[in-house]
Amino acid sequence: MKLLSILFIFVSSYSFCLAAPATDKVNDLPGLTFTPDFFHYSGYLRAWTDKYLHYWLTESSRAPTQDPLVLWLNGGPGCSSLDGLIEELGPFHVKDFGNSIYYNEYAWNKFANVLFLESPAGVGYSYSTNFNLTVSDDEVSLHNYMALLDFLSKFPEYKGRDFWITGESYAGVYIPTLAVRILNDKKNFPNFKGVAIGNGALNFPNNYNTMVPFYYYHALVRDDLYNDIARNCCNNNIGTCDIYSKFFDPNCRDKVINALDGTNELNMYNLYDVCYYNPTTNLKKAFIERQMRIAVGLPARKHNAATTVPLCAQTNNTHVYLNRADVRKSLHIPSSLPAWEECSDQVGKNYVVTHFNVIPEFQTMIAAGIKILVYNGDVDTACNSIMNQQFLTSLNLTVLGEQEKVNEAWHYSGQTGTAVAGFQTKFAGNVDFLTVRGSGHFVPEDKPKESQQMIFNFINNKDYSTPIQL
Ligand SMILES: *[C@@H]1O[C@H](CO)[C@@H](O)[C@H](O)[C@H]1NC(C)=O
Ligand SMILES: *[C@@H]1O[C@H](CO)[C@@H](O)[C@H](O)[C@H]1NC(C)=O
Ligand SMILES: *[C@@H]1O[C@H](CO)[C@@H](O)[C@H](O)[C@H]1NC(C)=O
Repeated sequence: MKLLSILFIFVSSYSFCLAAPATDKVNDLPGLTFTPDFFHYSGYLRAWTDKYLHYWLTESSRAPTQDPLVLWLNGGPGCSSLDGLIEELGPFHVKDFGNSIYYNEYAWNKFANVLFLESPAGVGYSYSTNFNLTVSDDEVSLHNYMALLDFLSKFPEYKGRDFWITGESYAGVYIPTLAVRILNDKKNFPNFKGVAIGNGALNFPNNYNTMVPFYYYHALVRDDLYNDIARNCCNNNIGTCDIYSKFFDPNCRDKVINALDGTNELNMYNLYDVCYYNPTTNLKKAFIERQMRIAVGLPARKHNAATTVPLCAQTNNTHVYLNRADVRKSLHIPSSLPAWEECSDQVGKNYVVTHFNVIPEFQTMIAAGIKILVYNGDVDTACNSIMNQQFLTSLNLTVLGEQEKVNEAWHYSGQTGTAVAGFQTKFAGNVDFLTVRGSGHFVPEDKPKESQQMIFNFINNKDYSTPIQL
């Protein structure tokens, strides 16, 4: 008996050395209305001499020791990946103005160990000890890579595990640039399998080139204005027009701005959303839009905010929750850090964009043979689906299956029957393009069931229409 308990102590301390750091384990998350059937960890990863990135790992509730490791990154640049956890694909969703946590049954950690990383330093709970938050695309990918190495030393059980990188929006730049670094490190990442990018900023100029026709064909722009732009700015061909450059042309600038004002009273992240949001906040929707406008020198949006904020627009649950002292304590956040913000103005303002398109990084990923999924909610106008379809077409890959046909549907089968979830095009080189029908920019938030099925099938090499079987 004594021997057994000595052996037990030996075995458990031995596995302690090999496994997840006990100090980062979250044991008492405030406001929980359910008992998690998985472990989760929150702490810091060293990304550079002066930079520490906060992570929150939600382990798989299925088979944590075998299921893959999936990294999730939100964009901005400057927005926190905890948005992804709390408002999109994570298991913990907040309600009651930050008072309680309910279980998101469409969480991706039902079948994967999902690592949410707040990046770069200055975003969310992540920090820089020297307060310099200026950072460029290539530095961000380097810091993220270094943070992942630190993650593997904290959690050696994930060494050699199947690894996927996912994310959305400006992570359309973070992901391919990080993937190139990971592909160069077969020793630490021998099983890097692929990337999934939602409504990604894959080609910034073409995003604007496609936005004006996108608005026109969604009944937001009058004929006289559209024809004026076509005739006087685009040689009568909007389809091939570099509308992006017209922001810098005094004869066309106002016309283009007028066309883009078509969404003034709408949610540009989801044309059919019924909710207003407050453009003066740092909540992600207002923030990303502001960054996009600053990038091309556009004036602030003329926004007709509602006088009373409807229930569906009470979007500060996450903000309130993550600033509770008890929550921060349970997540091991140093009390000296400032308030958690959904998106950081300091990071956004100082950010140095250098990758206006990620064609070279896509070519590297394709040559390496990893799987690539580009998916787009089809009623988002911040990073619209036409931009990304054209981005993939510009890679000159062979379209698989029947040529010159309409896109092929993929389906979601739920309790109310089977419905078209969106459309798919498969390209040679392991590249898939999926649309998610009726979804806006934040696909796992707008279409949680469909996005869960999509990602499950992507990482398990199944047809996208296959119902999830755990
Ligand atoms: C801040 O960091 C950036 C990026 O690393 C660097 O280029 C810049 O020189 C730094 N600024 C100061 C004041 O140290
Ligand atoms: C959260 O939003 C509500 C309105 O939607 C507002 O009344 C409240 O003051 C906000 N709370 C915080 C802490 O921002
Ligand atoms: C695709 O083909 C076009 C036309 O031949 C060419 O101009 C373009 O550079 C090619 N794109 C890539 C990524 O190779």
